[in-house]
Amino acid sequence: MVNQQQHNENHFDNAALQYDQVFTLSSIGLFQRARVYHWLEKSGIFKSPRKVLEINCGTGYDAQKLTEMGHSVVATDASDKMIEVAKAARSKDLQFIQLDFGQVDASGMVEKNEVLFSNFGGLNCISGDHLKKFLSSISEQQKKGDHLALVLIPKVCMWESKYFFLRFEWSKVFRRNTKKPLNVNVDGTMVPTWYHSPKEVKTMLGKNYKVLLTKPVAFSLPPSYMEPLFKRWPNALKFLNKLEQVFGQVSLLSAWSDHYIIVAEKVQWE
Ligand SMILES: C[S@@+](CC[C@H](N)C(=O)[O-])C[C@H]1O[C@@H](n2cnc3c(N)ncnc32)[C@H](O)[C@@H]1O
Repeated sequence: MVNQQQHNENHFDNAALQYDQVFTLSSIGLFQRARVYHWLEKSGIFKSPRKVLEINCGTGYDAQKLTEMGHSVVATDASDKMIEVAKAARSKDLQFIQLDFGQVDASGMVEKNEVLFSNFGGLNCISGDHLKKFLSSISEQQKKGDHLALVLIPKVCMWESKYFFLRFEWSKVFRRNTKKPLNVNVDGTMVPTWYHSPKEVKTMLGKNYKVLLTKPVAFSLPPSYMEPLFKRWPNALKFLNKLEQVFGQVSLLSAWSDHYIIVAEKVQWE
């Protein structure tokens, strides 16, 4: 596990400097993130100030935003470079710590916080078996009433399937639908990525959690690698964002979207 994590750390080191420009502040990235916040709000878990442990925080955009919303955030990421960028780009009083998923367990940070937050597919950097072990160790440390808010990449994305279909790249139409990792190009670096369906994640959470919501994040909105295309058609993107308000309500479409959000409440101690 440690080797795999160190591997990922290096992959994202390379992407760190351009990450905000390429994803966070792209039109598609901003629209997709707004949907995450929409569902966080609907879930009700951030109605009052909470203590949040953010894992795979990247450049710290969410840590800043959640802090501005009145929550107290400790933000962590395996990548040294992501943490460096976060420290430089965000408020000086925010706490950013270099921490791998494999170290979260022993850090004592899960017990000290109330919400564990993982945005935009950080947990797709580990295999299904590792995710299962990770969630089980989190479950052992979370208290009754604590929450998980996870944004993950499912095994099928309608947009992507249509895109490859129309390009006659048949072998890629359902390329995510495998238990094996796919090498995904992140700013020129190939990052091994495992896809986890909402059903699989719910099974991993088991009876220790009550799922509050599972919703699509970008069923109608396209994947962020289509940004160059939609830069030419900003109104088309705005229209798709309107459609997202409709189709994004349908929980079943979580399994067919670019990402999905699952918010769950710890209901009992193990
Ligand atoms: C797609 S980025 C998401 C960043 C951020 N959460 C966001 O919303 O933009 C995935 C992040 O996961 C981090 N990551 C990958 N493997 C990790 C691991 N094993 N432990 C902790 N963080 C990891 C990467 O360094 C990267 O910052």
